[in-house]
Amino acid sequence: MKQLKNWDNKTWLSSSKYNLSLVKFLNQKVKFNKKTKVLDIGCGRGILISLLYKKYYFENMPIGIDIIKHEIINKKIKITNINALKYLPQTKKKFDLIIYKQSIHFFKFLEIKKLMTNSKKILNPNGKIIVLSLNTKINNWPKFKSFNLKLNKSLKKDEKIMSLIKSSLKKYKISSFNFKVMLMKFFYLEMLANRFTSCLLNFSNEELKQGVKEVNYKYKNKINFIDRLTCIEYTKK
Ligand SMILES: C[S@@+](CC[C@H](N)C(=O)[O-])C[C@H]1O[C@@H](n2cnc3c(N)ncnc32)[C@H](O)[C@@H]1O
Repeated sequence: MKQLKNWDNKTWLSSSKYNLSLVKFLNQKVKFNKKTKVLDIGCGRGILISLLYKKYYFENMPIGIDIIKHEIINKKIKITNINALKYLPQTKKKFDLIIYKQSIHFFKFLEIKKLMTNSKKILNPNGKIIVLSLNTKINNWPKFKSFNLKLNKSLKKDEKIMSLIKSSLKKYKISSFNFKVMLMKFFYLEMLANRFTSCLLNFSNEELKQGVKEVNYKYKNKINFIDRLTCIEYTKK
């Protein structure tokens, strides 16, 4: 697969409002304190772990893993550029939270099983695995026709992934993280042109240009929608 470089590069997903709201959501589940040890798998630019570190002054710096070397916004945060499949079985560290935020769909089915097994092994007692992934039933992102088709296909696959995770974790809780996105259309058009999501990676430049035109025509200048994620939460007993 082509590399995803602009997911959290100047998008609502990189905004402080979005990330603060996500931290609040996670804190209801994890109850962060100075001792909490966090591992973020597929952390992108490390925006979430950076914010968590700033807010909770962890004694142990959160660890971010990403296969791609992105430009890091907070230089204090350490991100290891390694495949998660390689990192998990070899690390000697233990964690209180292992988070997969919108990164699990990059792995194959068998790999996901391994990731879940290995994540469980490196959890402290009462530690949590949290998997956040796009709601597979309702997606309100503004889309052009072929993007919509691609995304629907990908959401079908995500449904299978979520079932696989549930059967691997056995005991889990389900919840939703919803964020109200309000942005100017030109900003969103730029995100599309920058191929912010993996579904856009394989369109030709011409197809993308046409798609951007289509969204420009279809939507008003101000775009409002709800970005919906499903959360699977596992606690080690
Ligand atoms: C959609 S982005 C999500 C980034 C971040 N978690 C967020 O929600 O803003 C998915 C990230 O997973 C990373 N990724 C994909 N395959 C990976 C792998 N095998 N090991 C580690 N990271 C991976 C990608 O490089 C990308 O940065």
